[in-house]
Amino acid sequence: MVSADTGNSIPAHICIIMDGNGRWATKRLMPRSYGHKKGVETTRSAVEYFAKAGVKHLTLFAFSSENWNRPVDEVNTLMELFLTSLKKNTDELNDKGIRIRFIGDRSAFSQKLRDQISSTESLTQNNQTLNLNIAANYGGQWDIINALQIITAKLENGELDSENIDQSLFESQLSLADTPEPDLFIRTGGEQRISNFLIWQLAYTELFFTDVLWPDFTTREMQAALDEYARRQRRYGKTGDQIVGEMQC
Ligand code: IPE
Ligand code: IPE
Ligand code: MG
Repeated sequence: MVSADTGNSIPAHICIIMDGNGRWATKRLMPRSYGHKKGVETTRSAVEYFAKAGVKHLTLFAFSSENWNRPVDEVNTLMELFLTSLKKNTDELNDKGIRIRFIGDRSAFSQKLRDQISSTESLTQNNQTLNLNIAANYGGQWDIINALQIITAKLENGELDSENIDQSLFESQLSLADTPEPDLFIRTGGEQRISNFLIWQLAYTELFFTDVLWPDFTTREMQAALDEYARRQRRYGKTGDQIVGEMQC
């Protein structure tokens, strides 16, 4: 789906790789889990700040399909933290009109976590202030293969003809099919890579990288990302003059 942002200086959809929790804790001679707990506080503040700024969709990378490769203790801590944070914050987020959905392969999660995810999703499903998508056990490559499998099954059972496969049909089977593509991508923590996040959907997204570690990502930094976005000219292959001309019409 194409971007919903038609020249508006506030991005309709922001996605964030919330990186740097471990290093933040290590710098303080604390266990990495301390950084993850602090990170949850930043997450709450980011949801609130961007919702107030008028952002309609926020997609947060909470756990990648590659994060299972971490030490088992850290993975367990993260799973517990997801469960407790969801339990603790769902009602408040619901009161604020936030719709929460999870993207990614949830089959690998414990039954308890899956149940909590389902109840959070159904409680908040009619909310309209902000769509909050949490990417957990998510990988962009998984997303594409998953879409391909659904399309292949439709081809096999005759529901679909191969000549009808085009970009929009393919995108209709991706995780964020009903959501405009991200306008702004933010990655904290200093790394300048995508780490298998929304690789298809990021085709024309504005990228913003900062060295600030996620627990230190204050509302001032959030505003700096919005300000930087407002300065960008999105050309989609056109010339700068064409874009200026279109804005004057
Ligand atoms: C991001 O912070 C949180 C998750 C991946 C769950 P990290 O844990 O990757 O922190 P660093 O990159 O090691 O500092
Ligand atoms: C990406 O961060 C995933 C999340 C923030 C959830 P990582 O810290 O796992 O990324 P890499 O492995 O350093 O690229
Ligand atoms: Mg990291």
